[in-house]
Amino acid sequence: METIIAGNWKMNMDPGESRTLVQELLQAVGAVKDRTIIVFPAFTSLPHVAEIVHNSVIKLGAQNMHWERSGAFTGEVSGLFLKQLGCEYVIIGHSERRHVLKEPDDWLNRKLKTALDIGLISIFCVGETQDERESGRTEEVITRQLDLGLKGIESEVHKMIIAYEPVWAIGTGKTATPDMAAQVHGFIRSQLTKPATILYGGSVKPENIDAIMKEEEIQGVLVGGASLKPDTFARIVKFTK
Ligand code: 13P
Repeated sequence: METIIAGNWKMNMDPGESRTLVQELLQAVGAVKDRTIIVFPAFTSLPHVAEIVHNSVIKLGAQNMHWERSGAFTGEVSGLFLKQLGCEYVIIGHSERRHVLKEPDDWLNRKLKTALDIGLISIFCVGETQDERESGRTEEVITRQLDLGLKGIESEVHKMIIAYEPVWAIGTGKTATPDMAAQVHGFIRSQLTKPATILYGGSVKPENIDAIMKEEEIQGVLVGGASLKPDTFARIVKFTK
């Protein structure tokens, strides 16, 4: 199964900063052949980054999209436009969109369906909050997120990527131990009828990447803060088991 190292830049890096970051990253990882490297810049940086990564080892993705192809949806972005810019991937249901922007599960389901239809590979994020973990509801929450998000498209899950991102580990410096993450990955896998690539996300950094990637259950990582520095992200890309 493919190994994926993805960098979610979130709402950071203006177009000029994005160009510099991806140029330096490309210099550092340009020769890496045995893993898939994906960056997710802000919408406004996508054309700038696309120009630099075109035909290189770095693939391009967007952090969100709308479920309709076009229409009266002020402020939204169509997946078709993203494809035209060179995006092959799209993040759907990141916890910041679920919790801060209150995106409900049925929106995510529609987005996943559209991405499948138009040929964008989704990275579908699931994960529990601190409260949900502490009250022993991790599996219940993840089951609900998977059931509602994948409603009607479960048989196509092998065409998507799932990211397990425990909300309490995102941007907090608290990482799920490799063992904890692997346990939830195993649970997610047991809920799916087809093999899917499952990534871990939440405070991944050079200090913990090797231990995380030693787990058989973990096929890659979705990195936030540590993807904003070329050296740091390159070290993560070049993990050793
Ligand atoms: P951090 O790596 O900054 O914790 O963010 C994780 C994340 O949300 C990736 O999508």
